[in-house]
Amino acid sequence: MMEQDMQEILFTPEALARRVKELADQITQDYAGKSPLIVGTLRGSFVFMADLVRQINLPLTVDFLSASSYGSGTESSGQVKLKLDLADDISGRDVLIIEDIVDSGNTLSKLLPELQKRGPASLKVCALLDKPERRVLPFQANYVGFTIPDAFVVGYGLDFDQHYRQLPYIGVLKPSVYE
Ligand code: PRP
Repeated sequence: MMEQDMQEILFTPEALARRVKELADQITQDYAGKSPLIVGTLRGSFVFMADLVRQINLPLTVDFLSASSYGSGTESSGQVKLKLDLADDISGRDVLIIEDIVDSGNTLSKLLPELQKRGPASLKVCALLDKPERRVLPFQANYVGFTIPDAFVVGYGLDFDQHYRQLPYIGVLKPSVYE
């Protein structure tokens, strides 16, 4: 259930590491003099976030949340509910949300206004992957690792049916695996 299930490797571990370093350098520069609160959205962002924070040269703290979509039909409609809330108070903090992927835009376009109500000093989003073709609600992350076409990607935190998250690369799953 691994490499033989991939149609294509999109990003090798080396390509991911290079891009993560670039994002971390940009974040280090943009948040100079600040101590951001880096918030991982479980579960998909855990690998990206672990690599990213280790390259950010700033005093920072980390926290996590888990949001999921509910409601009508397919994965991307409906409301977003917090299954796990932050442990920390974000009021006055420079909050940077870490996402593995922005797909329909549903999760973040609903989650951000909720977090904004808590009075952070700033609230931004860093997404490793962006699939603009799939957008249902308008959303643009402040930092994007890679813009990708509408393909079923797994690895580096991203799952299919909770599997493949531990792959060190990002690959496109063979349709025969999920059809
Ligand atoms: C994925 C991903 C984002 C969301 C993006 O999470 O991590 O949070 O979907 O999709 P959207 O833009 O269409 O809202 P998922 O709910 O699959 O949970 P996971 O992180 O545990 O894999």
